[in-house]
Amino acid sequence: MTGKDHNANHSADKISDLDFEVLKDFIYRHCGIFFHATRKCFLESRVTRRMTATDIKSPADYCRFLASGTKGSEELRELLNELTVTETCFFRNTAQLSALENKFLPEIVASKSKTGFRKLRIWSAGSSSGEEAYTLAMILSEKRSTILKDWIIEIIGTDINESILAKAKEGIYSAYSVRHTPEPYRKKYFSEAAPDRFILSPEIRQSVVFSRLNLYEDGKMVFMKSFDFIFCANVLIYFDTASKTKVVQHFYNNLQSYGYFFVGQAESLHGVSDKFKTIHFPSGIAYRK
Ligand SMILES: C[S@@+](CC[C@H](N)C(=O)[O-])C[C@H]1O[C@@H](n2cnc3c(N)ncnc32)[C@H](O)[C@@H]1O
Repeated sequence: MTGKDHNANHSADKISDLDFEVLKDFIYRHCGIFFHATRKCFLESRVTRRMTATDIKSPADYCRFLASGTKGSEELRELLNELTVTETCFFRNTAQLSALENKFLPEIVASKSKTGFRKLRIWSAGSSSGEEAYTLAMILSEKRSTILKDWIIEIIGTDINESILAKAKEGIYSAYSVRHTPEPYRKKYFSEAAPDRFILSPEIRQSVVFSRLNLYEDGKMVFMKSFDFIFCANVLIYFDTASKTKVVQHFYNNLQSYGYFFVGQAESLHGVSDKFKTIHFPSGIAYRK
């Protein structure tokens, strides 16, 4: 198809099937997120918004702009801020958190204590607005006077969406975000500035470092080393099998030999990777090397 046919294929603001294919392909190659044809309307509405913001008149021109070097890369970041699904909340997966607190954490702490290496590294990959990483920080903070006394704890939250990371760093949440937070945690770690405004304590906010990371970018993933626990929950559902396999291989490489890898409640590594061992706990599974 020629460039002329390409342009002739769409009206002023509708995305033609060809433009959809180009955009879908571009996004997939950049970050692994796969847009099925059923999500064309969603993509269209977000691209239309970005076309208005950038004053670009046609989807075909917008596709070309995305591929146009530095300015295109900046625009791609903006587009991804609009396209990513960031739904999350505190204490989202209670079965997993309970297994971590009562089984996996004490086990790793006991075996590391024997070596005298008192440091834990935890990664919330696809952290969205920070609820998962901060939930882990609160649970570990409760162990500060017992099994984690004098331990160095590093919790890292990463996401591809810059706007959502800014929200994570701010640490201010709605009542909806904290709805599953057990009362003692809510009382201890949040101040309720207004009915729908929960401000996270500075101690917890400062215990997590957030940064932008595209899980699909091999060059960056190789630096995320030596984690005791990796959480990548409700992120890979937006990827196809090939991109899941590629990203999960990095998690495998970056996990300590005795560490644990967790995905979301409705997810599994079935058909994605056969390298991990499956560890069952009540109402869930974890993965180990
Ligand atoms: C539904 S949220 C999951 C949040 C949290 N992990 C949870 O389970 O509650 C999915 C997050 O994955 C992020 N994401 C999607 N693709 C990504 C990629 N290629 N690299 C990094 N983060 C990505 C999105 O920006 C979004 O914030």
